[in-house]
Amino acid sequence: MSIVFDENKRVFKLDTEKSSYAFHITDSRNLLHLYYGGYIPETDITHMLRIPNDEPFVPAVHDAMGPHSFDCAPIEFPTSGVADFREPAMQVMDINGMSACECYYKDYRISNGKPKLKGLPATYAADDEAQTLEVFCYDPHSGLDITLMYSVFPKFDVITRSVKVENNGLAAIDLRRIISMSLDLDRMDYDMITLHGTWARERHVQRFPVRFGKQSIDSNRGATSHAHNNFFALCDHTATEDFGEAYGFALVYSGSFLGMVEVGQYEKTRALLGINPYDFSWHLEPGEDFQAPEVIMTYSGEGLGQMSRNFHDVMRNNLIRGKWKDMRRPILINNWEATYFNFDTDKLLDIAREAKKAGIEMLVMDDGWFGHRNDDRSSLGDWFVNEDKIKGGLKHLVDEVNKIGLKFGIWFEPEMISPDSKLYAEHQDWCIHIPGRHRTTVRSQLVLDFSRKEVRDYIYEQMKAILSSANIEYVKWDMNRNFSDIYSPYLPAAKQGETAHRYVLGLYHIMDELTTRFPEILFEGCSSGGNRFDLGILSYFPQIWASDNTDALCRTGIQNSYSYGYPLSVFTAHVSSCPNHQTLRITPLETRFQVASFGVLGYECNLKDLSGSDLNAIREQIAFYKKWRDVFQFGSFYRGAENEASDSETLTE
Ligand code: GLA
Repeated sequence: MSIVFDENKRVFKLDTEKSSYAFHITDSRNLLHLYYGGYIPETDITHMLRIPNDEPFVPAVHDAMGPHSFDCAPIEFPTSGVADFREPAMQVMDINGMSACECYYKDYRISNGKPKLKGLPATYAADDEAQTLEVFCYDPHSGLDITLMYSVFPKFDVITRSVKVENNGLAAIDLRRIISMSLDLDRMDYDMITLHGTWARERHVQRFPVRFGKQSIDSNRGATSHAHNNFFALCDHTATEDFGEAYGFALVYSGSFLGMVEVGQYEKTRALLGINPYDFSWHLEPGEDFQAPEVIMTYSGEGLGQMSRNFHDVMRNNLIRGKWKDMRRPILINNWEATYFNFDTDKLLDIAREAKKAGIEMLVMDDGWFGHRNDDRSSLGDWFVNEDKIKGGLKHLVDEVNKIGLKFGIWFEPEMISPDSKLYAEHQDWCIHIPGRHRTTVRSQLVLDFSRKEVRDYIYEQMKAILSSANIEYVKWDMNRNFSDIYSPYLPAAKQGETAHRYVLGLYHIMDELTTRFPEILFEGCSSGGNRFDLGILSYFPQIWASDNTDALCRTGIQNSYSYGYPLSVFTAHVSSCPNHQTLRITPLETRFQVASFGVLGYECNLKDLSGSDLNAIREQIAFYKKWRDVFQFGSFYRGAENEASDSETLTE
């Protein structure tokens, strides 16, 4: 049993092979955190509860807490307004303007396997792979029921967490914040590791000692963002790839998020991860509920390398799904950097013929095949083939590519609409915008309101028609802007705080529909490179384009940083032409290949421009990659020790 409840001591203990997690129900029915760390066999561990009790100036709010205060105690799920002055996981606003909320234990249930989360992607497990603990709590004043859910994956040293809130009171209430995970640790001598970046330099490891006060990463852009990834770690100051304690946290979510570490006045650390409370609220009428997304946590007593491998294993086995989960990913050639918008059937077939000779397995037609799109200023939303370019039609092109002996893949940007499009002329109200205000465009495009079913249904039908019209075996699903002017004219004023999250739910809905309707197709996520690189996307699409920067030297840092939280099978990496289009750097072909092969390999250059010797070299590279593809894509990844110094930005005190 990986989950036990010690009735005498009222301790819940969750064990993986090498870690244990425990919390305790007090006489006052509060849940206090006891322990998260290396495996311990006992359950009688209430002596581990350390609450400073010699602090004179703290409010003691509950008799049963004795002289202790919430503000000193390790709270399993902290709520606001009840004298824990640290960052809360939950905050409400009721019809009387009251924002206080408490979380008292009521009951629990332990089951095998793992239930689904309503409307949200999450890890999944067979009955013999994981056990789940649901702890049912309540707030006596408002009538809210709060369910804390923990699933334990013993083999991978992973515990997942999520929380559901149900309004079983008599009046409506607004959730102002609902953070999926809060973890109170007894020390403060940790380093925090985050993955920051920007466009074309996604994911750089930043490591720094946590300090008194709050340090956070977040996105309020409606997508995970280039700027910060919704993964972070806490580890010993001395932790290396192979030694020391490390905790990793990753959110299964693709919208705005907050990851925060707070060190309070008693030198304890609180880690939080969930939906960003900024501009968020969710209205709950009596009888309604809200499900917060899942956090994957792992503990490693063997350094950062093992922390990463735990994540890699659970993602590959229990998050990614569908036909392509364990299948070798094809080596593709993408025409973007070879032609940009300037291509037609003949050019694509030329690329395909050269690619076939090199051993490449698929041709991907990127942006520019639809509407009247010859640059990035039009036609998003008009998913009709431009037969001036794709002469003879899409089916003809795909058939010809197949005859050459390659699979065929296609690019879409389904969530967007260009003001210069037929769709916009017909439905100006289908985009996210604030009525009466200027509509902010990015790359000349607006975001379709995927919180609305009719909008999603229209795009679904367009995509279905294209995908059914020819033998299309791969889709690159792009998304090239963040969200601004967030407002959905079709929601009432009191629900506008729901728009951004409703969008994410709508996105998951259509991703689910399309991947279910076309289970054979390999979908690849993309968002100007890695602007939306997260576990929500990976729950539907087994791989994501890691960065628009294809420069091999830059990619070493980017891919190394991704590997902290993500397995190599999920990030795609292409050999591109020289000098590199982003940096103008000249890099040997061999180096470009060596870097791109530490990921899902592809090519993104015009092979016709290359010399005979380069083409021969590429043929050999591809043969080599095919031989070792299983290892590159699905092997256990050990980062070299020297990368700790070279690739990370280390800030010291
Ligand atoms: C984004 C993607 C690129 C390419 C272009 C096409 O920038 O990240 O790979 O598909 O869009 O417009």
